[in-house]
Amino acid sequence: MASHHRGRIPSYLATAAALLLAFLLPPLAASQWPNCGNKGNFTTNSPYQANIRALSTTLPKNASSSRTLFAADSVGTVPDIVYALALCRGDANASACGNCVSNGFNDAQKLCPYGKDAAVYYDLCYVGFSNQNILSATGGGNSVLILMSDNNVTAPVEAFDAAVGVLMNATADYAAANNSRRFGTGVGGFETVDKRNPKIYGVAQCRPDMAPGDCRSCLGSIIAMRSQYLIGRQGGRILGLRCNYRYEQYSFFTGPSMLQLPAPTVGVAPAPAPASVGPPPVGGGELGEITSSCLHDSVFRPEVISQLREGWRSFFPDRSSLFYLHEKV
Ligand SMILES: *[C@@H]1O[C@H](CO)[C@@H](O)[C@H](O)[C@H]1NC(C)=O
Ligand SMILES: *[C@@H]1O[C@H](CO)[C@@H](O)[C@H](O)[C@H]1NC(C)=O
Ligand SMILES: *[C@@H]1O[C@H](CO)[C@@H](O)[C@H](O)[C@H]1NC(C)=O
Ligand SMILES: *[C@@H]1O[C@H](CO)[C@@H](O)[C@H](O)[C@H]1NC(C)=O
Ligand SMILES: *[C@@H]1O[C@H](CO)[C@@H](O)[C@H](O)[C@H]1NC(C)=O
Ligand SMILES: *[C@@H]1O[C@H](CO)[C@@H](O)[C@H](O)[C@H]1NC(C)=O
Repeated sequence: MASHHRGRIPSYLATAAALLLAFLLPPLAASQWPNCGNKGNFTTNSPYQANIRALSTTLPKNASSSRTLFAADSVGTVPDIVYALALCRGDANASACGNCVSNGFNDAQKLCPYGKDAAVYYDLCYVGFSNQNILSATGGGNSVLILMSDNNVTAPVEAFDAAVGVLMNATADYAAANNSRRFGTGVGGFETVDKRNPKIYGVAQCRPDMAPGDCRSCLGSIIAMRSQYLIGRQGGRILGLRCNYRYEQYSFFTGPSMLQLPAPTVGVAPAPAPASVGPPPVGGGELGEITSSCLHDSVFRPEVISQLREGWRSFFPDRSSLFYLHEKV
């Protein structure tokens, strides 16, 4: 692939003062992952809150009725102006999209109480609002949320991560070139390495108003973060307001995969390597509990709030303070 994105600054990394965060998820169908900003608070019944309310009524409709499943708008004037955007995953249907975005506005205000700047990510959409202009396709919104499966792959880690890398690069190429939605899905064969987990599935997506080069560059930056955060993980996501991706060992998107990649050619496919995987976390994590795997990297801080019930941990690598986010079940 051309290295047209190489010179660009992955600002996530450049500014990476770090923050690590994890929180309990309600054991509900719709998992949500908030990314609360640090742009101050609004007050009850303020014009700022009214402007969020206004956007919370228009954006779900606008996003779900848009061909690209995307909507961005601002309401109000400085200092109460609110910029908001919402994007549904490229394979979402209109009703699921509208519901997801609508929940996003509600959840954002619960999960980031009175925060002027907040984003909430779901499987099928995300919503972000801010008093800073996050609407421009080229600016703003560089903070990312990293979600990783708590489970390690049973296959040889190097082979797995190489296959994920090939898949995500190809899926990112596809997404950046997709002029209708800047969205791509891919499935890569892996049966030559691990017969029990014969496929790897991925999606990549950008804001649909981004130019192909910007999209690919954005995805390149977050794909590069994989080596720091997601090695050996059965699943992972890196989620930002401009671009995001996800990979899993199971199918999680709707419709046929846009891309099919062959399995890597390796010699024998022996039984999976001895699993270094312990039992998955059961029940809710304890407040403040974290495994040492998250702490060995100095980028991370040990102030974990809680651990995810679903076996996901989340990290905000470019934040310098910690936020409490969790809605208790
Ligand atoms: C905003 O509100 C949160 C929670 O209500 C509080 O912890 C935080 O200190 C407030 N931030 C500012 C800048 O006032
Ligand atoms: C959202 O929809 C409303 C009503 O249909 C329209 O007036 C407005 O311009 C739309 N906003 C955006 C950002 O699409
Ligand atoms: C782009 O994404 C859309 C929506 O997911 C999909 O239906 C379409 O096949 C893709 N288009 C191209 C040209 O790949
Ligand atoms: C829309 O998507 C949701 C969630 O994926 C699904 O449950 C629902 O059945 C879909 N509705 C239609 C009409 O396809
Ligand atoms: C994916 O693309 C990046 C950037 O072009 C490259 O450095 C990396 O080697 C690629 N990874 C794989 C597994 O092909
Ligand atoms: C996954 O691998 C990491 C890093 O090798 C290790 O610290 C962690 O304990 C493993 N997780 C599980 C659930 O085994």
